[in-house]
Amino acid sequence: MAITVEKLIDLLNRDLELEYSAAIQYINHAAVMTGAAYGDIIKELKIHTNEEIGHAMVLADQIDFLGGSPSVNVGKIMTSKDNNEMLEQDLAGEEDAIKRYKIRIEQAEELKEFALAQPLRTILAVEQEHAMDLKQALGK
Ligand SMILES: [Fe+2]
Ligand SMILES: [Fe+2]
Repeated sequence: MAITVEKLIDLLNRDLELEYSAAIQYINHAAVMTGAAYGDIIKELKIHTNEEIGHAMVLADQIDFLGGSPSVNVGKIMTSKDNNEMLEQDLAGEEDAIKRYKIRIEQAEELKEFALAQPLRTILAVEQEHAMDLKQALGK
């Protein structure tokens, strides 16, 4: 099935909702995570929070530019009482984001929306860094 601008706007809106939920999830996890061994990753989670908000701003601008209405809905948020389980939840979210943005870049290029593909590549690179930080903290 060929991609259309309308379909791409819908998909970018789902991505936007998941950026909002990722930011909220990171705020929650950074706040409730405890233990001296987790000090470094807690700092990283706070940095991730701000980067996810930045991604949301980029996506909202791009959706508006394409003629869509940026969503104000928030995706699913996961939390836990266990530090490692929270990090696993965050990693699952990042791995999902990496998969989605790889597809989204291809779709943007298929529509010759190169000015959209470029910021999506930047977002993808940041999500890969987030996944690496989480894997390192999990000893993976
Ligand atoms: Fe993000
Ligand atoms: Fe991320």
